[in-house]
Amino acid sequence: MASADQLKALLQSHLEGDENRFYSVAMQVAAHEAKRGHGKLAEELRALVDQAKSRRSVVPGGMPDSKAVPISKPRGELANLLSVSYPKSRLGNMVLNNELALQLERIILEQRHAAEILSHGLSPRRKLLLVGPPGTGKTMTASVLAGELGLPLFQVRLDGLITKFMGETAAKLRQIFDSTHHARGVYFFDEFDAIGSQRGLANDVGEVRRILNSFLQMIEQDDSHSLIIGATNHPDILDNALFRRFDDLLHYELPDEVNIGSVLKSRLSRLAVKNTSWKRLAAKALGLSYAELTRAADEVLKTALIKRTEKISEKDISQALEERRWLSKRLNKSS
Ligand SMILES: Nc1ncnc2c1ncn2[C@@H]1O[C@H](COP(=O)(O)OP(=O)(O)OP(=O)(O)O)[C@@H](O)[C@H]1O
Ligand SMILES: [Mg+2]
Repeated sequence: MASADQLKALLQSHLEGDENRFYSVAMQVAAHEAKRGHGKLAEELRALVDQAKSRRSVVPGGMPDSKAVPISKPRGELANLLSVSYPKSRLGNMVLNNELALQLERIILEQRHAAEILSHGLSPRRKLLLVGPPGTGKTMTASVLAGELGLPLFQVRLDGLITKFMGETAAKLRQIFDSTHHARGVYFFDEFDAIGSQRGLANDVGEVRRILNSFLQMIEQDDSHSLIIGATNHPDILDNALFRRFDDLLHYELPDEVNIGSVLKSRLSRLAVKNTSWKRLAAKALGLSYAELTRAADEVLKTALIKRTEKISEKDISQALEERRWLSKRLNKSS
């Protein structure tokens, strides 16, 4: 049996996400067992460690196994910069226009065939720029890509990243881009234009520009196997210099009537009474975002729960949509 200290070290390294230490303690346990004459057990332990290590390391073609989710969590200063999650979201959960659906399917396909693509000297799309108004599925896309590819989602925390001092921000960015090599995942820079905005920074336009430029350079130079996703609400920031750092540009839009109908139906059709006209509801909801539609539908579901009813009328849905529209107008006015 492993000693108490070894057991503790194993658990601790697992909890701290220190993968290398985890394996090294496991090898110590194997050595310990071999010394005590448990040769078979020692061999089995070594084989398990080797197997686990080879799964996380590079396979022929230069691509890490996409199924190997690192046990590591961001540690030390990185923990203030990245928050990690393991989304289960799927592409089928999203309502998408044809163009976006094709683009996302293509990205997923290229990632799934990454080893083959790389072995022919080509590179799969992995640096993506997502542009579109609030509530149209940009953050959801990052979750879906992580979910579909079985990768961890690392959300970059802008509050931890942006400091008054340009040197510090650049150093923190450097840490994140080092991490893209060590822990393969989906790295999501939400509101990524804020990195180049004035917020929280010295009022020197030149300096702000330099940070954005060094960020763009890091994106360009990144040769890891991670996905790097930037999202923004501001289409006006798009220019060629920016776009050429990315492999793909994805445009998000407010849903049209058909897509509104799909969102509402997918969430509510189970409870809606027979003569509900989704077309009529969709026409009323035009202008609302996917996020607002989802919120309105959830309000209807909650009311049904509270009233302990299994039936909802078109009027219930229509009222929830109107309320959402009213709230959204008020919120937009006050922001
Ligand atoms: N295309 C979509 N299909 C289905 N549901 C969606 C879609 N887009 C958004 N939603 C719903 O709205 C929620 C919020 O969307 P999300 O956070 O992805 O928007 P966003 O584009 O990142 O907005 P923001 O610019 O404000 O960050 C999602 O969690 C999901 O429930
Ligand atoms: Mg978002």
